[in-house]
Amino acid sequence: MKNIYLNIYKPNYVNVKKAKKNINNNNIIAMPTETVYGLAGNAYSNKAIKKIFYLKKRPNFNPLIIHFKSLKDLKKDAIINDSFLKLYKNFCPGPITFVLNKNPKSNISNLATANKNTIAVRFPKHKITKKLLKILNVPLAAPSANISSKLSPTCAADVIDEFGDKIKFVLDGGVCKIGLESTIVDLTGKPILLRHGSITAEEINKVLNKKIKIGKKLKKIKSPGQLKSHYYPGIPVFMNKRGPLINGAFITFGKKNKNTKNIFNLSKKGILKKFANNLYSTMRKIKKRGYTSISVRKIPDYGIGSAINERLKKASYKWKM
Ligand code: TXA
Ligand code: MG
Repeated sequence: MKNIYLNIYKPNYVNVKKAKKNINNNNIIAMPTETVYGLAGNAYSNKAIKKIFYLKKRPNFNPLIIHFKSLKDLKKDAIINDSFLKLYKNFCPGPITFVLNKNPKSNISNLATANKNTIAVRFPKHKITKKLLKILNVPLAAPSANISSKLSPTCAADVIDEFGDKIKFVLDGGVCKIGLESTIVDLTGKPILLRHGSITAEEINKVLNKKIKIGKKLKKIKSPGQLKSHYYPGIPVFMNKRGPLINGAFITFGKKNKNTKNIFNLSKKGILKKFANNLYSTMRKIKKRGYTSISVRKIPDYGIGSAINERLKKASYKWKM
């Protein structure tokens, strides 16, 4: 049998150049970022974008994030404003995505932006991703490298586990430093937080000098990623639990629980960033080991805890008890 893990390429210059070649041929590659792995393609090419939607089984109304290397490049495709500049100066490159108005002169594929007049943009911080963007002449459309509504991959092997042989080129950037998708802020009007992430609402408020609206309180869903069910690990997930169900596993942090066969303590010191960083990989591990459910302890709802809770709420949506 063919070893599908052979499609994983070490992060050296030769392979970054191979990645470039793939992108220029409108092939899709998987690439690391500091948040999660992305399925990347030439953002100017309808052909490449169609492949991304097909591979991910993503509904065509759900737009992709476009990854840029510089402000200069961004301006060709998006209209920037003061709030954007403030946040950009403080957090970029880094794990934050901005929804801006699309520049009417932009050449970004309308399929990538789902025919909207807005565009989600991000400046990734991962060394290898930056190297790749630097040698490319095009921005990269890159959603998380998972089948739609499933868990995002946080290492190269997870991408292969998700897509098997369908992805021919995975650039290996190691384990993602953050492990949760970027924070998303809509800056097309009054700033709105559309997705929590490791850059927190509190940090954004400080920079903008005002309180950002939280998207979930809005009546209208602005981002299809705000759909209720998402981040599904393949078995039921339960929040705010004190232990595992029968044949299930338990994910926790803090001093109370030791690591055992089915108890996964992700940070004995109670560091939520560490918990967040290992959450998806642990959920994948639990599913692989044959447990039939995942129970998770209560997570405080501030800082990165809000991002964790947002993901868990969606992962557990179908099994509310
Ligand atoms: O950390 C991340 O952001 C990763 C890495 C690979 O960069 N990417 C990622 O992409 O999480 P994706 O496609 O899995 O999530 C992007 C979210 C979706 O919920 C989508 O609906 C939203 O961004 N989005 C994209 N364009 C938008 C737009 N114009 N307005 C509102 N939401 C938008
Ligand atoms: Mg995603």
